[in-house]
Amino acid sequence: MNKIGVIFDLDGVIVDTAKYHFLAWKKLADDLGFEFTEEHNELLKGVSRVRSLEILLDIGKVTVSEERKQEFLVSKNEDYLSYITKMEADEILPGASELLDALDEAGIKYVLGSASKNAPLILKQIGLYDRFAGIVDGNSVSKAKPDPEVFLIGANKLGLEPSQCVVFEDAIAGIEAAKNANMVAVGIGDEKTLSEADYNFNNLTEVPGNFFTELTTLN
Ligand code: BG6
Ligand code: MG
Repeated sequence: MNKIGVIFDLDGVIVDTAKYHFLAWKKLADDLGFEFTEEHNELLKGVSRVRSLEILLDIGKVTVSEERKQEFLVSKNEDYLSYITKMEADEILPGASELLDALDEAGIKYVLGSASKNAPLILKQIGLYDRFAGIVDGNSVSKAKPDPEVFLIGANKLGLEPSQCVVFEDAIAGIEAAKNANMVAVGIGDEKTLSEADYNFNNLTEVPGNFFTELTTLN
């Protein structure tokens, strides 16, 4: 693995947007008259918007027409947008900017690999949009994580083989997608939850300075 590239998930790795997704989904659940807890919200991490709605409606045991579902998706996203359009650089998670700086210095390219259709907007809000060599988001894929599609397109943008790519992810579905793509998976968050990852760190500040040079000398 003498040449590597990095693929970053966005939500939960670079920014903590789960709290805004939670508020927006909770408003919909409140309107529909059932309880939606932070624990329920865990089930939506890394999951596409459409799939998230299905899970939420299952939790509330609510059945609605396709037309109503479309309306819910639009109103949820409007609520979510009201939060993320206020985001600024101070919401970048600890260690993320430093890690991008270290990769720039080492000449290692990185792209984004996110399930979110709002990823470009969020990156612009926090001032990181221009730093990525490419952006793969929820608009670019037809199959959601754990399908490897998002990361395989990312490898293509990096001009590298999947086995040369290192994925940073906070969601189980994302770690599975990375493994399905035959990439190195780095779990960010709870080690027990992300036990399928090849490496685990609680957050990006814990990634050792020599992490990438060690990886390039493997094999
Ligand atoms: C993922 C989040 O990054 O993006 C999920 O972890 C979210 O919680 C998904 O549902 C889709 O996001 P969006 O912004 O397209 O609704
Ligand atoms: Mg995530």
